[in-house]
Amino acid sequence: MLRRMLLSASNSEELGRLVSASPLTRPLVDRFVSGETAQDAARAARALAARGLHVSLDRLGEDTADAAEAAHTRDAYLEVLDLIGRADLAPRAEVSLKLSSLGQFLPRDGERIALDHARAVCAGAAERGTTVTLDMEDHTTTDSTLGILRELRRDFPETGVALQACLYRTEADCRDLAGPGSRVRLCKGAYREPESVAPSSRAEVDRAYVRCLKILMAGEGYPMVATHDPRLIEIAGALAVRHGRPQGAYEFQMLYGIRPEEQQRLAAAGETTRVYVPFGDDWYAYFMRRLAERPANLAFFLRSLVTK
Ligand code: FDA
Repeated sequence: MLRRMLLSASNSEELGRLVSASPLTRPLVDRFVSGETAQDAARAARALAARGLHVSLDRLGEDTADAAEAAHTRDAYLEVLDLIGRADLAPRAEVSLKLSSLGQFLPRDGERIALDHARAVCAGAAERGTTVTLDMEDHTTTDSTLGILRELRRDFPETGVALQACLYRTEADCRDLAGPGSRVRLCKGAYREPESVAPSSRAEVDRAYVRCLKILMAGEGYPMVATHDPRLIEIAGALAVRHGRPQGAYEFQMLYGIRPEEQQRLAAAGETTRVYVPFGDDWYAYFMRRLAERPANLAFFLRSLVTK
């Protein structure tokens, strides 16, 4: 119930303005967001890389309603890739992209605009010897995102995509994307979805996650196991062994600021471990999704609002 309320709040522009303007929110946001600029993100990436971790840099922002803003987002990604190249961080550092921030839902030609921009970002990544992974947004975007992925993979076959175990369709999508060269980031799913497309029970989502993992680990692609859930991390390790996948033939992924000691433990054990590092000033929706996932974060946030 609380989770659904917070996820609804993540779409409220009015609440977004209020929360974003409050200086009291800042300390908690700083835990999940590496900074406002590409330079902040590159600094965080260097620090994580020095500790043996891989990173995926994500510029916050979604659902652009303006073609100029979409082009600006593309340019911001090209700047990040330039920093990655200059800091010699490729291929340890890659970028994650939300297609809606590149104009996917602009009323005229949105998909084509997002595809063109994403293609430019993929070309920038390839030039520096690194990769791009497409984030997945709510279920209304899945077909369009997978369509754009197919186009991008013609020229950039290493382009990855996130799939959300919470959607009923995802086992079939995992089967489609379990072929050679494919990179799939399996996550539980962070959006509020109707019951017609996703179960409401978290236990059911966890079971679906395991079924999807089995498909990806048995397949010929490169599974990216994006979760903080200790049980799922253990199951992923066991499935990798069962399918004869050595370390490096799959990877673990976690979000910046969440279970950093576990990120370090996995890396120290020889597992490729990637941290998803968001940056930028448009952090409200991302931040609310993180609060929805963990009531302890919400309690901390509310306390900070009442104890000035
Ligand atoms: P969940 O939130 O259910 O937590 C399971 C368990 O993990 C908890 O019970 C606890 O044991 C442990 N845990 C979680 N948080 C913890 C904390 N702060 N401290 C200690 N223990 C903690 N979603 C999406 O829809 N599209 C996308 O493109 C992406 N991309 C993405 C990339 C990466 C790298 C990650 C890690 C996640 C995403 N997500 C995402 C978000 C994802 O869908 C999901 O919402 C969050 O990862 C939370 O789900 P968990 O699998 O971590 O489990």
